Amino acid sequence: EATEAELHERIRAAKAELGERVVVLGHFYQRDEVVAHADFVGDSFQLAKAARTRPEAEAIVFCGVHFMAETADLLSTAEQSVILPNLAAGCSMADMADLDSVMDCWEQLEEVYGTTPDEAGRAPVIPVTYMNSSAALKGFVGQHGGIVCTSSNAAAVLDWAFERGQRVLFFPDQHLGRNTAKAMGIGLEQMPLWNPRKPLGGNTEQELDEAKVLLWHGFCSVHKRFTVDQIAKARAEYPDVHVVVHPECPMPVVDAADSAGSTDFIVKAIEAAPAGSTFAIGTEINLVQRLAAQYPQHTIFCLDPVICPCSTMYRIHPGYLAWVLESLLAGEVVNRITVSDEVADPARVALERMLSVAP
Ligand code: 13P
Ligand code: SF4
Repeated sequence: EATEAELHERIRAAKAELGERVVVLGHFYQRDEVVAHADFVGDSFQLAKAARTRPEAEAIVFCGVHFMAETADLLSTAEQSVILPNLAAGCSMADMADLDSVMDCWEQLEEVYGTTPDEAGRAPVIPVTYMNSSAALKGFVGQHGGIVCTSSNAAAVLDWAFERGQRVLFFPDQHLGRNTAKAMGIGLEQMPLWNPRKPLGGNTEQELDEAKVLLWHGFCSVHKRFTVDQIAKARAEYPDVHVVVHPECPMPVVDAADSAGSTDFIVKAIEAAPAGSTFAIGTEINLVQRLAAQYPQHTIFCLDPVICPCSTMYRIHPGYLAWVLESLLAGEVVNRITVSDEVADPARVALERMLSVAP
């Protein structure tokens, strides 16, 4: 088996030979050995935009998870191939909403709320999907007057949706939906959870009558581990600590933190801090450990003492990166991610709406 140093050298050599033919994108949660080779590292919104920056490159190697590679395919040119180095790199949260269950929910909502707009021309419901969802769901949203959001633009996207709709169906992440809607002043009693296994999602008609944001039952298994107790411990030990968490964390955790935002928000908060600051971070461990190493002038630690990586992000091993790059050199595109035209057209509409809200 190749050593880490050998793999590093193989990736470096293949990239050098491919030159402008390839662009490697890496999400902030990727392991250091992969990030080292990325031409662009960012949060999911930045990476979606980055997929458009090199239209002349024949391949985009996406070191991230499946829904991110699908999005890159939707936003790149038809000639470009998007490659996911390991096809098993999915996102368990994205898998919590499938097209059939969402369509079933939508039909029930049409029965409850009807399909006619109010006097102001606002639709009964606007569907909003988190970027962490399949292209099929982005397509559904595009076809039904809806939009995509990421953790960096969720509030602006909800504003967009409320200009066009009386209420929002938000999926798959209940926590991002709840945290964002709460910050906009929407009451918890106006945010019922939708459980797809129960009729009316487990709600009474009266509960649905009051609803402003219907929250799908999805969650991120990495971020749901963070607790208010961990924040209390960090504050007891470091009275000056800044607690910064990702909005996929449960609401009590976001409420107890000093600030919450996307992975890029977390990186920027640390970049902007004066030397000697202390940060307790509530997000994936690879990013936290990299930041701790990059900023030795600060004290940076993860809120969760048990190391918990995003296991699917971690599946992009440097061995796969070397393999896909060397295959390209040999004239072969392996692990290509393609979205069918039927899904791609409406999915692009939903993505373009998002890009127009937060360019
Ligand atoms: P960001 O948009 O903040 O990069 O988040 C993506 C993600 O999957 C977080 O778990
Ligand atoms: Fe999905 Fe959570 Fe991993 Fe992000 S951290 S890719 S939401 S499982």
